Amino acid sequence: MKTILITGGAGFIGSHVVRRFVNKYPEYHIVNLDALTYAGNLENLKDVDTRSNYEFVKGDINDAPFINDLFEKYQFDGVLHLAAESHVDRSIADPMAFIMTNIVGTVNLLNGARKIWKSAEGHRFYHISTDEVYGSLGETGLFLETTSYDPHSPYSASKASSDHLVRAYHDTYKLPIVITNCSNNYGPNQFPEKLIPLSIHNISQNKPIPIYGKGENIRDWLYVEDHAAAIDLVFHEGKDGETYNIGGHNEWTNIALILQLCKTMDKKLGRTEGTSEKLITYVKDRAGHDLRYAIDSTKIQKELGWAPSLQFEEGIEKTVDWYLANHDWLENVSSGAYEKYYEKQYVSR
Ligand code: NAD
Ligand code: TYD
Repeated sequence: MKTILITGGAGFIGSHVVRRFVNKYPEYHIVNLDALTYAGNLENLKDVDTRSNYEFVKGDINDAPFINDLFEKYQFDGVLHLAAESHVDRSIADPMAFIMTNIVGTVNLLNGARKIWKSAEGHRFYHISTDEVYGSLGETGLFLETTSYDPHSPYSASKASSDHLVRAYHDTYKLPIVITNCSNNYGPNQFPEKLIPLSIHNISQNKPIPIYGKGENIRDWLYVEDHAAAIDLVFHEGKDGETYNIGGHNEWTNIALILQLCKTMDKKLGRTEGTSEKLITYVKDRAGHDLRYAIDSTKIQKELGWAPSLQFEEGIEKTVDWYLANHDWLENVSSGAYEKYYEKQYVSR
């Protein structure tokens, strides 16, 4: 029986990882540690929350004594660390929350693991990170694992900092670690502040779709369950101390993506083609807006045999279907209704 800590399991990617691990590994005891910030909702896990191999703990990774106690109590064999402040625009408005959770919170977890793991044997600290640490590409080229770090936003700088600290704990204390840097994810359970769920929400309500600048920025999109499959593989088969890039080979300018999304939404909502794209509204550009992200995922494909399974057209259709079928989820997370509900259910220490 292995006891595995997953942090940030009530968030977007974390909820898919928790569900996958709870279903696939009945022999693991999965502990989901999450502070339930605005981005975390236990509703995302309602289908697994009564399972005997799953436990939820409400808590803040910034609280060092609490984290130390937690590691002492559970004697975790492995950690998958996904808890983070994750939205670039929020990091521009309030960098300190990102410094605290993404950097200090990560170090608290590293210290917790270091205190209880007497040897590397049978242990692994897996840090889930982003391609944004590499900065911005021009029109050509791809991010490799060897690309120099060049973060521009407070979000990407905080993630870069935590990546360096995780590697430092490996090199200095021999802590067994692995890191992945993934491109933009999309799919069910994503908080409607990110481009795709925000646009779906606005289109369904006939509200403007805000496009920053000229809409020419490029992102490399990956369906969230393909990311969860890669995380599963790296956790079990990745080599100690290594970094793997994960990406969809699926580059879209923001405007091309939104036009595709509008077409799908028109079809699903029974609207005449061309109706939703009238909602597109160009707004002031994001400060320090990175032009292009694109991942070379040859290493994980060749060494571990991972490949994305879904084509974008299929993934976006599944995503739209999920948001339209879960209209209440969208309304509740946007209004903070779940935050208020769960605040009553769980008392923080
Ligand atoms: P998210 O914002 O949807 O979820 C983050 C979760 O962390 C939430 O459940 C939140 O409650 C929890 N959390 C935040 N602060 C906490 C704290 N102090 N203590 C405990 N829990 C806390 O994020 P996401 O999009 O699911 O991203 C998960 C991870 O994957 C992050 O580390 C992010 O940097 C990384 N990542 C995200 C993407 C993407 O496209 N979303 C791409 C690559 C990497
Ligand atoms: P986002 O989903 O915030 O992810 P990230 O900034 O981490 O890549 O944004 C994706 C792209 O969409 C990015 O280039 C910014 C742009 N964008 C808009 O044009 N309008 C929006 O309302 C949002 C949230 C993002």
